[in-house]
Amino acid sequence: MSNGSILKRVEIIFTDYDKVNEIVDKAVKKSNTEIIGELLESGLRGRGGAGFPTAKKWEFTSKQVSEEKYVICNADEGEPGTFKDREILTQVPRKVFAGMAICGKVIGAKQGFIYLRGEYRYLLLNLEPELDAFNEYLKQIGQDFQIKIFMGSGAYICGEESALFESMEGKRGEPRNKPPYPTEAGYKNKPTVINNVETFVYALMICHLGAKKFKDLGTTDSRGSKVFSVSGDTPKPGIYELELGMSVEKFVDDFGDGDTKAVQVGGASGFCVPRKKFKDTIIGFEGVPTGGSMKLFNSSRSMFNVLRNYLDFFVEESCGQCTPCRVGCQQLLKGIEAVKKGEKPIAYLEQLLKLANTMKIASKCGLGQSVGNSFASIVNNFKEEMIY
Ligand SMILES: Cc1cc2nc3c(=O)[nH]c(=O)nc-3n(C[C@H](O)[C@H](O)[C@H](O)COP(=O)(O)O)c2cc1C
Ligand code: SF4
Repeated sequence: MSNGSILKRVEIIFTDYDKVNEIVDKAVKKSNTEIIGELLESGLRGRGGAGFPTAKKWEFTSKQVSEEKYVICNADEGEPGTFKDREILTQVPRKVFAGMAICGKVIGAKQGFIYLRGEYRYLLLNLEPELDAFNEYLKQIGQDFQIKIFMGSGAYICGEESALFESMEGKRGEPRNKPPYPTEAGYKNKPTVINNVETFVYALMICHLGAKKFKDLGTTDSRGSKVFSVSGDTPKPGIYELELGMSVEKFVDDFGDGDTKAVQVGGASGFCVPRKKFKDTIIGFEGVPTGGSMKLFNSSRSMFNVLRNYLDFFVEESCGQCTPCRVGCQQLLKGIEAVKKGEKPIAYLEQLLKLANTMKIASKCGLGQSVGNSFASIVNNFKEEMIY
């Protein structure tokens, strides 16, 4: 049961909008070593999901010798239940552009792109004039860096960084083999920094506020705060900036409806946390990481239906390039349906769990590798709902 205690709200992402030019003016006067040092000190990790240290990404790319380098903002935001990048781009777009421009200065790039989710085309109405003004401002202050918007076409897999580059190059959005990593060979095979929308804003704000303010929040592995998209069975769905490292229990106390039986942390590719594990599960890289999606389910929900929806999504969105994922997603979906109808015994779930584990090891990219997260956490914690 929820006791209604409220988590502290953090105000970094959506504040100081009137100071963006001032922040950029100050940042461009700092040396690249100073900026990277500050990011390193802050402990900022990418907010797109995987959590790679941002300072390292920028540093590796800055060290590459190349005439052409790129900065790409990943605004594909396809993970089910995530809608925070849309809000950031709506409320504080100039902060995103400014973070990209600072990155451009640090790595020595002249061109930046925002890869915008196909379904967010309507945002262009506001984004384009804002971007024109910002590009003009960069020219005025003598920064040789310009940003363009590239429209995605509505494929979840194109949020995966290497599939995104392929898509920008006019090819099918299919993930590449790694290495090489984008820092060495990204867009057009040139050194590229690709970061999530929110990551660029935190990088900007760390330049402005200093590393300490950020580092003082969160935990050792998950420094700072994060923007969460809260949805599902909650009396207060929406966007919230919160300190990382809270337990799921604290989160549910604040956002639950008093009857929360599970929280899906990190969307379809994330983990389902059942009520009995709320207390001991930390939201952050040392527990359950999330790109921001937090979906609450109360006792009126069928976790079988939740899992079936996720698998439907993966079957649809798998690019089909590698067999474990292409065939595995379909078999998992058919398998749980067969168990539910009583056509297969309960023991068949164990076979499916093994398949999900094989997909984790054998799939080429993060999509196939993470199907097992939601699959195993839902099947193992809600077995009674999977059966006939
Ligand atoms: C299937 C798939 C979809 C992804 N979609 C997104 C996305 O929409 N936005 C995003 O920032 N990262 C997404 N990622 C992660 C990116 O590949 C990449 O790690 C991220 O953009 C890096 O930014 P960060 O270091 O700021 O987190 C996705 C990864 C996978 C495997
Ligand atoms: S894991 Fe899935 S999405 Fe990724 S390359 Fe293989 S088939 Fe495509």
